[in-house]
Amino acid sequence: MKKKLYILTGSSKGLGKALVAHLMDDREASIIGISRHMEPSSGRYTHLSLDLSDTDKLVRALGEIFPPDSYDELTLINNAGWIGEIAPLGKLDPQAILDIHRINVVAPAILMNSFAAVYKSYSSKKTVINISSGAAGKAVDGWSGYCASKAALNQLTLVAQLESDLHQLGIRYVALSPGIIDTPMQENIRSASSENFSQVKKFQKFKSENQLSTPAETADKVIFLLKNLDTMPGVLLDVREF
Ligand SMILES: NC(=O)c1ccc[n+]([C@@H]2O[C@H](COP(=O)([O-])OP(=O)(O)OC[C@H]3O[C@@H](n4cnc5c(N)ncnc54)[C@H](OP(=O)(O)O)[C@@H]3O)[C@@H](O)[C@H]2O)c1
Repeated sequence: MKKKLYILTGSSKGLGKALVAHLMDDREASIIGISRHMEPSSGRYTHLSLDLSDTDKLVRALGEIFPPDSYDELTLINNAGWIGEIAPLGKLDPQAILDIHRINVVAPAILMNSFAAVYKSYSSKKTVINISSGAAGKAVDGWSGYCASKAALNQLTLVAQLESDLHQLGIRYVALSPGIIDTPMQENIRSASSENFSQVKKFQKFKSENQLSTPAETADKVIFLLKNLDTMPGVLLDVREF
């Protein structure tokens, strides 16, 4: 039996890229990384170039994403996320409304569904980590799609754990709030106009006052969580708690 398979979305930048670097340090790990950018596959790393907002293509790729091979550990990390078009309702492009929910909720749901379908009878250690956000529990102007989609992701994760327990699927689910990280997503947030996002100055200050975690620091926390899942109960977790 092979050792560990990690399936990770959003592997090209930010937290996802740092996670790939950390996971590659483990010689027992094979990784399937997914993002829109073309990246070379090499050795234990396989890259799938896929736009998660293209739901039909995602469904067609499921066979490649979830190989029916045996591993000691199978882990899906739904990390890819989009802050969305930062503007209040009334100014949003309908396509952007559709896309943020496709990327932040529909794609993770389809991937979770397929993970459970393919691996439910496997005796491997099975884990799904959904990278959520503190915004799931807050109302932030200009971020309607982001707040709503991360709240939906949290609910999706809670229901998935309930079902896994009820039907004895043996899958551990976590929706993890990763804190504020110095990634391209934060650059995007800082470049919003104050007319469309009243808190833009606060986020600019987070950066100028060095209050952001590095992607590598946050990736360390995710790895710590993966190694210590048994001692960390609950579904909705926050890196600031450990
Ligand atoms: N940064 C923060 O402060 C912060 C705070 C709370 C929560 N989070 C959450 O943490 C996760 C990682 O965020 P991050 O800051 O690392 O974001 P990021 O820097 O914007 O990177 C996002 C990643 O997702 C991929 N991605 C985006 N849209 C995609 C699409 N349509 N199809 C396929 N891949 C797509 C990107 O790759 P491509 O561009 O190559 O497609 C990239 O690899 C997200 O779920 C985010 O919501 C971040």
